[in-house]
Amino acid sequence: MILRRATLDDLAAIVAVDRDHGVAPRTEWLRRRIDRSECVLAIVDGDLAGFLVADDAFFDRTFVRLVVVAHKHRRRGVANALVADAESRARTPTVFSSSNRSNTAMHALLRARGWVESGVIEGLDELDPEIVFRKRVR
Ligand SMILES: CC(C)(COP(=O)(O)OP(=O)(O)OC[C@H]1O[C@@H](n2cnc3c(N)ncnc32)[C@H](O)[C@@H]1OP(=O)(O)O)[C@@H](O)C(=O)NCCC(=O)NCCS
Repeated sequence: MILRRATLDDLAAIVAVDRDHGVAPRTEWLRRRIDRSECVLAIVDGDLAGFLVADDAFFDRTFVRLVVVAHKHRRRGVANALVADAESRARTPTVFSSSNRSNTAMHALLRARGWVESGVIEGLDELDPEIVFRKRVR
């Protein structure tokens, strides 16, 4: 597996993996993230297996905004490698992330990596609150 920073040449492939996850197209949002060097890719056998977007915009802390792995590459450690990389590059001693309460896969991944719950944000997704996680990385 190779991890590397995304470039705008990767945008179409990233959007395809994102669609595979089933969300509405967010091409412009992803383009801005690539432009700001906030998007890292995991490449497996030349294939875009997954990507991670992180920034420092959460109370000035490093925040993992999004991790998506293509269906055919799941449960092979791709997200684990992307999150480990984000932790190692974090600009702040504590890293944060959040995802819906229903997202048991992401929460299992974070807990397995030593992340702990940091609180709940109600009112974003009416029936599925956002659970905030954090990890002290240094
Ligand atoms: C969540 C997601 C990123 C996990 O990616 P992945 O590459 O399959 O995860 P990994 O293979 O690195 O899994 C590492 C560990 O996380 C946990 N895990 C991952 N997926 C899981 C699942 N579906 N159910 C339970 N535990 C899971 C396990 O502990 C796993 O270790 P194991 O395979 O040895 O049991 C992937 O399912 C995905 O893209 N989901 C849709 C997008 C999303 O919801 N992203 C998170 C919101 S930001």
